[in-house]
Amino acid sequence: MKALVLSGGKGTRLRPLTYTTAKQLIPVANKPILHFVLEQIATAGIEDVGVIISPETGGMVQDALGGGAGFGLRLTFIVQDEPLGLAHAVKTARAFLGDSPFLMFLGDNLVQGGVAPLAADFRRDTSTSIIQLKKVPDPRAFGVAVLDGGGRVARLVEKPKEFISDLALVGIYAFSPAVHAAIERIKPSWRGELEITDAIQELINMGHAVAPRLLEGWWLDTGKKDDILEANRVVLDEFTRRRVEGTVDEASQVVGRVEIEAGAVVERSVIRGPAVVGAGAKIVDSFIGPYTAIGRGTAVEDCSVEHSVILDNCRLRAVHHIEDSLIGSGARLTRDDSRRRVLRFFIGDECQITLS
Ligand code: TTP
Repeated sequence: MKALVLSGGKGTRLRPLTYTTAKQLIPVANKPILHFVLEQIATAGIEDVGVIISPETGGMVQDALGGGAGFGLRLTFIVQDEPLGLAHAVKTARAFLGDSPFLMFLGDNLVQGGVAPLAADFRRDTSTSIIQLKKVPDPRAFGVAVLDGGGRVARLVEKPKEFISDLALVGIYAFSPAVHAAIERIKPSWRGELEITDAIQELINMGHAVAPRLLEGWWLDTGKKDDILEANRVVLDEFTRRRVEGTVDEASQVVGRVEIEAGAVVERSVIRGPAVVGAGAKIVDSFIGPYTAIGRGTAVEDCSVEHSVILDNCRLRAVHHIEDSLIGSGARLTRDDSRRRVLRFFIGDECQITLS
């Protein structure tokens, strides 16, 4: 069995960060989402992995993953010239996939417990495709699956206006090679994309079995800013262990599950977990609250930061109550010492700033 990870796309909802990075490389708990995805695939016992990349950010993804040896995987990078849909990505990977059954994983999605249980089910019968589903409170924003009485998927409906099912499609699928013939038969949707939901529906129409697999744990789709913050919260909550390798002075307090990487320095500050502070970061006279990730080489002085993701090499000084924030790498956020109450900005395209 092979795996196909989709790490192309435009990432428009995460601009401006996605002007300079691939969204799948944005870190939660200081680790790129794509790393979690590849670790989950390796844990499922799959070694041969195709990674769909875009011409714009593909180089960065390749640099971040290398050949995959660090994950125990063999990676093949496949350029998708334009993001023309998830089924188009499968079509682009046709030569790599051959006639192998495969697991498909969206590179910005994560599920609790990984994909090993799904892969184990699929290995028992690779002629039955499987879609991972999650019960959601408001199905109107999702593609949903309607099941028949016999435990199979009967049909799929995109963003249903009327209630028909609350089982949303999570971005993880196991496909028999029959999916390629189904993709050949579908047409682009109104938004000009070859939709994977149309391909799965076609697979069912052609008489192939598609089974559901219900996910009980969390599902994180990190397509927007608040999703990244939520993913950071959930991942910090679940995976952070107390590990203090950096230098913490006597005037500081490190409370609870906090990771301070080697080379980080904490002076006269309070860090309350779950939180991570990256290598080479410097925290001085500050409060770092729960659910915060401070990137590598970032300096924070006289600030309070909570429930936020601050990427690498930022400078934050004399700014209080930073909350629910996602700050891109190299950003500067400071207050000068003059008493004049003015705000001075030098902000990139499509940034979002909320003052209160
Ligand atoms: P989406 O989040 O649906 O699309 P996007 O990445 O273009 O983002 P936005 O809507 O904000 O512009 O994509 C889901 C995942 O699949 C994501 O990891 C990107 C990837 N993808 C591809 O690799 N190729 C594609 O053609 C598309 C549409 C997405």
